[in-house]
Amino acid sequence: MLEGEGFVLWPWRDDDLDALAAMNADPLGMAHFPATVDRERSAEFLTRQREALASTGMGLWVVETEDRFAGFVGLSRVTRDIPIHGEVEVGWGLARWAWGRGLATRGARLAIEDGRRRLGVGDVYAATSVRNARSEAVMVRLGMVRRPDLDYALAGFPDWPGSPHIVYVLAR
Ligand SMILES: CC(C)(COP(=O)(O)OP(=O)(O)OC[C@H]1O[C@@H](n2cnc3c(N)ncnc32)[C@H](O)[C@@H]1OP(=O)(O)O)[C@@H](O)C(=O)NCCC(=O)NCCS
Repeated sequence: MLEGEGFVLWPWRDDDLDALAAMNADPLGMAHFPATVDRERSAEFLTRQREALASTGMGLWVVETEDRFAGFVGLSRVTRDIPIHGEVEVGWGLARWAWGRGLATRGARLAIEDGRRRLGVGDVYAATSVRNARSEAVMVRLGMVRRPDLDYALAGFPDWPGSPHIVYVLAR
């Protein structure tokens, strides 16, 4: 567990699935994704992140505040076939009620500090749809720098209006 001010980052429990699936079913929260994520895929995500945290120490943590599941934030190794394949990526997603409190920014900072201290993580990348201004704003608040040379289109969604994905980096 990692402790922030007014929130904790916590490994997953089975009963986080309801809140995660509800968050993934929120059309506004998912506005910058080409497709929604159903309960079955949410369950796979939960299991994958829990196992990653347990086996490698690197994964997306649950953000918990006021004893509630507020979303997730953390680090992962990029396995998707994109220009930052093999690099460490920071990612976040919050339930709507938890937006506007700095939880993504503060949670990401905590997860990055932990990854650097405990796992020797160096440069950290982040990617989002060019239309996802709130996610890009988190990157800017973290002090990350845009890398326009690493823009990419999501495979399988050539005409998606959210293209391209843009990439930021926080150099060590
Ligand atoms: C992307 C997402 C996590 C950003 O959430 P967010 O709440 O806007 O970002 P933060 O948690 O960093 O909060 C920042 C806001 O809290 C405010 N804030 C309050 N206290 C703060 C603090 N201590 N530190 C930083 N910001 C603080 C900031 O001023 C900012 O307010 P604003 O929205 O009025 O500009 C959220 O929009 C989301 O979950 N979207 C759907 C999923 C998604 O798109 N994920 C990313 C895919 S790439």
